[in-house]
Amino acid sequence: MKPLSSNSLFIGKVAKYLERIDSTNAFANNLLAKSNPIEGTVIYTDDQYAGRGQIGSKWESHIGKNIIMSVILFPKFLPIQNQFLLNQVVALAIYDLLKPFKFKSGHLAIKWPNDIYIGTKKIGGVLIENKLRGTSINATIIGIGLNINQREFAKDLPNPTALYLETGEEHALDVLLEGLCLSLERRYLQLKAGNESVLYKDYVHQLYGYEEWRFFTVVATGEELYGKIIGVAATGVIQIMTKDNILEFAFKEIQFIH
Ligand code: BTN
Repeated sequence: MKPLSSNSLFIGKVAKYLERIDSTNAFANNLLAKSNPIEGTVIYTDDQYAGRGQIGSKWESHIGKNIIMSVILFPKFLPIQNQFLLNQVVALAIYDLLKPFKFKSGHLAIKWPNDIYIGTKKIGGVLIENKLRGTSINATIIGIGLNINQREFAKDLPNPTALYLETGEEHALDVLLEGLCLSLERRYLQLKAGNESVLYKDYVHQLYGYEEWRFFTVVATGEELYGKIIGVAATGVIQIMTKDNILEFAFKEIQFIH
């Protein structure tokens, strides 16, 4: 990948390219533990061989095909109980980056909490690792994996897609990476400026299945649930209205039936 030439104020101004690394999030964690990186430092690679996904899963990416990055931020202004706002910031930043494209599989959406979907297929994932101190967030590592030019995926992945598969064209990784730094910075500055209501409104409106009556599976019981997503609480739990109740579920407690 070409070096990052960012026009941003701080995200990506310092960028460290690694030819090959186990995980950019792991590298960023080490950097934070052993030095004082400046806010907005970006770590990116063409070859991540042990990428980390949500809840202990793996993130696989073919060499030189996708955006694989981690960003270090210091949202010390954010109380711990509001940490889900960071998920909204990142999901919206990716959404904003991809919005101008036309897709083959359907429309672009954020699948709660912060997967990026096109139709029923996943194009991007986010892994946020917050470092807490007292009642606030001392630092955060925002890991983003976004499938761009990869054409084939492992058979056991349920529903992957990539920008190439959706647009029929290859895309320059350096240009998209720079765009992502800019969109992330814009959304992060919205958060810093206290525009939480704008972030929330934008986030819920782009949510996959928002205000649509659908079937879900309650993971603990295997029970089927018919309801519609009506919002996401500050804690990040999803709120689903059924015909008699409003129910709340944490991550992995509920599954969509596509
Ligand atoms: C998910 O499971 O959906 C989250 C995937 C996050 C993957 C990215 S790739 C860059 C960064 N480094 C990692 O090891 N993981 C994140």
